Amino acid sequence: MSLVLDPAAQDLLFREARTANTFTDEPVTDEQVQAIYDLVKYGPTAFNQSPLRITLVRSAEARERLVKHMAEGNQPKTATAPLVAILSADNEFHEELPQLMPHAPQIKDAFFSERPVREGAASLNAALQAAYFIVGVRAAGLAAGPMTGLDFEGVRKEFLDDDHTPLMVVNIGRPGPDAWFPRSPRLAYEQVVTTV
Ligand SMILES: Cc1cc2nc3c(=O)[nH]c(=O)nc-3n(C[C@H](O)[C@H](O)[C@H](O)COP(=O)(O)O)c2cc1C
Repeated sequence: MSLVLDPAAQDLLFREARTANTFTDEPVTDEQVQAIYDLVKYGPTAFNQSPLRITLVRSAEARERLVKHMAEGNQPKTATAPLVAILSADNEFHEELPQLMPHAPQIKDAFFSERPVREGAASLNAALQAAYFIVGVRAAGLAAGPMTGLDFEGVRKEFLDDDHTPLMVVNIGRPGPDAWFPRSPRLAYEQVVTTV
């Protein structure tokens, strides 16, 4: 009764949404990915920074190069998902801050002139954006399979550069046969929320 979001949308985004481990071969189009990004780009970040970068792994050759960096148990999922995305954090995100905060362009140098500070901010805010992206995939009626079981340095060297830190690989598509494990329990409200 307290939520204003339509119950069917609540189910689509959370209650019935699951992490898919198998996929049909129905393609995921660039138009779908663009619609997802154009929705989730509005998710909030510190100073409105936008450090998330999304690398769509489309060619068979690139897919093969990625699969070899995945943990063994993850390899078949990444090999067969209709679309795979590498999500990374751009540690030079501050260059875009004047565009993203036109009313306060001085923030770029005042807060983010030092690389370690940028790496910390990029890691937190790109992770937030990755979470928004996963929910956006669900909003498109698709299933996401996020994975961190991979060789991060291998993926960085293979697909990114020194300025980008890989966060996770996400398999995207419609769920296939036996797509999920049994739903695991979640912590109850009382275990998580305290009031002071
Ligand atoms: C950041 C992240 C990393 C994950 N890494 C892996 C992984 O390497 N391999 C895997 O099979 N599942 C991985 N998962 C899937 C989780 O185990 C799954 O999302 C969680 O158990 C909830 O499952 P449910 O959505 O079906 O309830 C990962 C999920 C997230 C969000």
